[in-house]
Amino acid sequence: MEPYLAAEMQRIADAAPAVAYALPISRITAGRGGVTAQANGLGVMRLNLHSRLAQRVLIELTRAPYRTEDDLYAAAYALRLSDWFSPAESFRIDLTARFSPLKSLNFAALRIKDGVVDRFRADTGQRPNVDRDRPLVRLHAHLEADQVVLSLDTSGEPLFKRGWREDTGDAPLKETLAAAMLAACGWDPFGPNPMPLYDPCCGSGTIAIEAAAIASRTPPGAQRRFGFEHLRLHDPAAWDAIKKEAASAVCTPVVAIYGSDVSHRMVDFAQRNAQRAGMADWVQLRGGDALQRMPPAEHGLMLLNPPYGERIGVGGQMRGARSGRERFVHDRPPADDGDESSADTGDSAETAAFFTALAAHWKAHFGGWQAWLLSPDAQLPSHLRLKPLKRVPMFNGPIECRLMGFDLVARNAP
Ligand SMILES: C[S@@+](CC[C@H](N)C(=O)[O-])C[C@H]1O[C@@H](n2cnc3c(N)ncnc32)[C@H](O)[C@@H]1O
Repeated sequence: MEPYLAAEMQRIADAAPAVAYALPISRITAGRGGVTAQANGLGVMRLNLHSRLAQRVLIELTRAPYRTEDDLYAAAYALRLSDWFSPAESFRIDLTARFSPLKSLNFAALRIKDGVVDRFRADTGQRPNVDRDRPLVRLHAHLEADQVVLSLDTSGEPLFKRGWREDTGDAPLKETLAAAMLAACGWDPFGPNPMPLYDPCCGSGTIAIEAAAIASRTPPGAQRRFGFEHLRLHDPAAWDAIKKEAASAVCTPVVAIYGSDVSHRMVDFAQRNAQRAGMADWVQLRGGDALQRMPPAEHGLMLLNPPYGERIGVGGQMRGARSGRERFVHDRPPADDGDESSADTGDSAETAAFFTALAAHWKAHFGGWQAWLLSPDAQLPSHLRLKPLKRVPMFNGPIECRLMGFDLVARNAP
């Protein structure tokens, strides 16, 4: 996703006016697992408000060599964090590690915490409290084999939490992944040829709601709070102005956006989510079996993560047709930042039958449409009996998937 994120950050940077000749965001470089940029406080606020693809916006404070836990303590102590936040704010250390030689990551985090607290005491005579559950400030420590990177998290809750979701269904996509799918399939509601968008297995409505937010220029962070509000860089007047500028750009989409699901309970969830997201007027949601629903427009783009997994079985017509095993490939409920689960991407007769029937329906009725499906199943093109235009690797949590696009060419209806 890094190239898509870098392009998005460039768009956010281009839209940000220079203040006192300083560019709020510059020098954007895609790396592995993230994109770096140079930014001031205004840039940090803009990235948090406008990025649909980033999980978090971190400020890198230091990169230091280490061998022992004492080196980590020293790296944390060297930071004068009272310049960044007051001792009245609670904090937490989030630690990740790759190839670290240290035996206990808990102990490593503890030593970093000690370094932070001791330095605060030395500088201010006070220490901030640790709050593991609801910290106001989060510090990120990433341990490589011999280097530690300490960063301040300016987002707080991860950015896929847009602030509107209450009804999740069983396997909702993260909003950031839905946005990445929309970027990767090339759907552009502001391009010369804006296409209607349709998710025929919409579940809780993530793709349709995200699409409507994009098409209406509604900023993803408009309804939520951010970690930077507890940092000294926070400038409430400037933040207010940035939010007002974003709100004044909101427009009515020029394209229609549709969603449907065989489960009426899901459609109900999606409707409520759309209402909370302020998108209810711009998405049309209905019940119905994807194997039977007719196209909602003459041509357009379908984007979906079709049913797979223990929790999310195929419904509608196919339910009766199946016997014995009731399941498709495993899916999982979302965790907070969510990256632990297992996936069974095994093939099955049921999988093949559902997708073959879906492709037959599409070929009969959706000629001229494009369909983009996110799936962990490498056999999907052969079940659909279609050749993919493109395969884009993406992770749905820990599950490696491909977003695959197909041109649907009209055949005679049976
Ligand atoms: C993996 S979930 C999609 C999740 C969705 N993208 C979201 O963010 O909530 C798959 C959805 O397909 C629906 N489904 C299963 N069989 C279907 C069928 N035959 N026609 C339409 N929808 C179906 C399920 O009810 C489920 O909501």
